[in-house]
Amino acid sequence: MTDLDTLAQEALAAVAAADDLEHLDEVRVRFTGKRSALTGVQKAMRDLDPDERRARGQALNAFRSAFQAAFEARREALGSAALATRLEAERLDLTLPPRRLPPGRPHLLTQVEQEMVDVFVGMGYQVAEGPEAEAGSYNFDLLNIESDHPARQEMDTIYVDGFDDVVLRTHTSPVQARVMTRQAPPIAVVCPGRTYRADAVDATHSPVFSQVEGLVVDEGVTMGDLRGTLLAFSRAMFGHERRIRLRPSFFPFTEPSAEVDVSFEGAAGHHGWLEILGAGMVDPNVLTACGIDPERYTGFAFGIGIERVAMLRHGVADIRDLYEADARFLARF
Ligand code: PHE
Repeated sequence: MTDLDTLAQEALAAVAAADDLEHLDEVRVRFTGKRSALTGVQKAMRDLDPDERRARGQALNAFRSAFQAAFEARREALGSAALATRLEAERLDLTLPPRRLPPGRPHLLTQVEQEMVDVFVGMGYQVAEGPEAEAGSYNFDLLNIESDHPARQEMDTIYVDGFDDVVLRTHTSPVQARVMTRQAPPIAVVCPGRTYRADAVDATHSPVFSQVEGLVVDEGVTMGDLRGTLLAFSRAMFGHERRIRLRPSFFPFTEPSAEVDVSFEGAAGHHGWLEILGAGMVDPNVLTACGIDPERYTGFAFGIGIERVAMLRHGVADIRDLYEADARFLARF
């Protein structure tokens, strides 16, 4: 039996010495494969007498299972060592500080516009939009602004070269004309958008600015409805303690017309009024021109400067800050 014992010793030593899975498999082939010494031993059993053969068979099985156990154990050890090596090689260093990209956000004017529109959508208004390059008929004529009105002079209005009677809209009010010519009352819309005037730039003026227009037309709409709506808007935007004040004014498309101020309380008991918008009851001439019966329907309209609201709410002193895309300024909002 010494041949099998020696073989077992050699085999187990070889298993223990195999330093990777490939070598381990070579050991398996060498000691238990078809051409191994083991196969020789097995073949030689045919010539033994039954007693010897049984004893030999048991020894052989013992060898096989000892080898199998050692082989499996070694394979597992080498396998997890290989895995550990791979994991180590592929390790991610999660402590590396990330490169920080500041998250983007909407521009202050966009934020304020969205808030303003949301206030009105919350009161049941729909949003309507119109073109920035607008027909003079919508920007002026349908709004009761006659052709000799000073607003139509080239020094006030930007006309589009090469097109007859096309202007960059001077206010968002043409959108109310567009809505009224298309839709029967009841109407409740807000129209946010960019507007243009031939103004020189200074701390409070810009040739490009933006407005939110509002229009409500229905049976029995009154100036009281207008006042209540604007008070609700002012409180939503500026705070619950705000009051509003309507001052008589003039717009060709509203009668009566008002300029609306919102109250403020400054430092050291300083308080006063700030103008935030123009408004009024839609002029019957405008209703008629847009195909709505002024005997049956009344309406109110208002136009709010978005820059104005943004500047008042956020303490921005110079309108140019809103257009200069200075990331240090914009990052504050
Ligand atoms: N369109 C006017 C302006 O731009 C504002 C306004 C709108 C006034 C609606 C009354 C009614 O100044």
